[in-house]
Amino acid sequence: MDEATVRRIKSGMEYEANRTAPPPGFPRFPAIPGGRYVDPQFLALERGLMWKRSWLYACHLDEIPSAGSYMMFRKTGSPILIVRGKDDNVRAFYNTCRHRGGPLVKDEGGRIEGFVCSYHGWTYTLDGKLINLRDRRDFVDLDLKCYSLVDVRCERLSNWVFINEDPLAVALLESLGPIPGHFQQIKPEEQRFIHKASYHVKCNVKVLLDAFLEVYHLKSIHSNTVDRFLDHRGTTISLWPGGHSLMVTPNRRPDWVDPGTRGMRSIETASEIVTKNNPSFNFYPNLVTPINDSGIPFILFWPDGDREMDIDVHWFAPDWGSGEKPASWKQRIDNFERILFEDTQFAESIQRSVESPGFKGVMLNYQERRIYHWHEELDRRIGVEIVPPELRVEPKLAGFIER
Ligand code: FES
Ligand SMILES: [Fe+2]
Repeated sequence: MDEATVRRIKSGMEYEANRTAPPPGFPRFPAIPGGRYVDPQFLALERGLMWKRSWLYACHLDEIPSAGSYMMFRKTGSPILIVRGKDDNVRAFYNTCRHRGGPLVKDEGGRIEGFVCSYHGWTYTLDGKLINLRDRRDFVDLDLKCYSLVDVRCERLSNWVFINEDPLAVALLESLGPIPGHFQQIKPEEQRFIHKASYHVKCNVKVLLDAFLEVYHLKSIHSNTVDRFLDHRGTTISLWPGGHSLMVTPNRRPDWVDPGTRGMRSIETASEIVTKNNPSFNFYPNLVTPINDSGIPFILFWPDGDREMDIDVHWFAPDWGSGEKPASWKQRIDNFERILFEDTQFAESIQRSVESPGFKGVMLNYQERRIYHWHEELDRRIGVEIVPPELRVEPKLAGFIER
């Protein structure tokens, strides 16, 4: 992060802490229709036209460490195999044999030399080429070249692997706008995979995603945790094209250190925005990451049907050299889970509310604008004209996007 950006964010925090109203000209938001959280037609559009056309985080290279290492991705419906090739490139394929759809692998992860379908034995290389099949004489004019596995776009930000089911999607790094640049300061190539965990919650995925895009709730549900070290009134926000955003919340005291990071190596190139504040990125749609010089979680929000969801948290820490993982990560995860359970405590009640006649929409204020930005982008990705008129979000933030 360059000096000018650091200065701009610092003066932004000062401005936000001292303002007495939203900036002049800032819009009043219409309520976001509750149907966007429950309406089956809307949620089907969201699934098909947003989730299946977005770059989604899948895994870290450490989880597929050598040629033939693979793991299964099942977050958006059709199972997708992510595999490291003999040339070290990472590729993704639907786990679907070109003969009659048998599964190429049945385990969630492992290591293989190639794919042999368990149904009739068609055999594919790690880069998806069909190379062998039984009783070839029985197929008329079969050209093996025409029956490679169907691939899925698979690209990386450093060692982090993302997939996208849209063959025409803009390249990952281009689609992320300024985010890869901001990440350089924490040396992504030195971040190693440390741990992952999954938490199931009974609400629409957006109920909890919304909660991780604002800090207006700190004083109520995190009064004994986050609110003690973060000052939400100084929060400064950058809204970027593509629905991405950054929220930087100042620490209450500049010398405050997360006890869960003690003893962990820290990345010396991190700016003071990272070391003395809490910068939280949203990679649209579902990756929220508060980065830190001594390690970061990727907090991922996944729909599980229309009314349930999973929060998956993947942890990374700066390379600790040879030997065991740093011992303090366990405490750090314990601390994080305590905060996470504060965040999830009302999720089921809110889901019941969005289904209640008593709910007249999501009413947002200036400091909750990342949520409105997220929903505006959802309509753009679905295609505004396709969204039922009563469920649309009226665009209000065009003049507030940093380009
Ligand atoms: S379905 Fe795979 S070989 Fe027949
Ligand atoms: Fe929270």
